[in-house]
Amino acid sequence: QGQCGACTVLIDGRRVNACLALAVAHDGAEITTIEGLANGALHPLQAAFVAGDAFQCGYCTPGQICSAVGMLAEAEAGWPSHATADVAEAAALDDDEIRERMSGNICRCGAYPNIVRAIQDVAG
Ligand code: FES
Repeated sequence: QGQCGACTVLIDGRRVNACLALAVAHDGAEITTIEGLANGALHPLQAAFVAGDAFQCGYCTPGQICSAVGMLAEAEAGWPSHATADVAEAAALDDDEIRERMSGNICRCGAYPNIVRAIQDVAG
């Protein structure tokens, strides 16, 4: 509750605030951090954040990117959000949908417009 999301990692592919996760509760789980996303080359979201100037100080950026990876997987799986108008249909990842789905990740620098654009670039 009330965390900033800067420490977001993927645990078995699902986004989790690491600061709220008890390590022993995830024994044997696959943990992916921002470093683990790059596989010989930048992950498409990492590249989109760089190309789209989607950060300023960079403090929130690892969490934003890990969260975006998890969020795109959730959307792909058909999970609705509070902003989804019709939960029976696949959500279009427009600005409102992305902002709602990324609302757990705070950016103190206010880089939100470019963060949303970078995610949209990857979502297609
Ligand atoms: Fe500075 Fe997000 S880029 S907190």
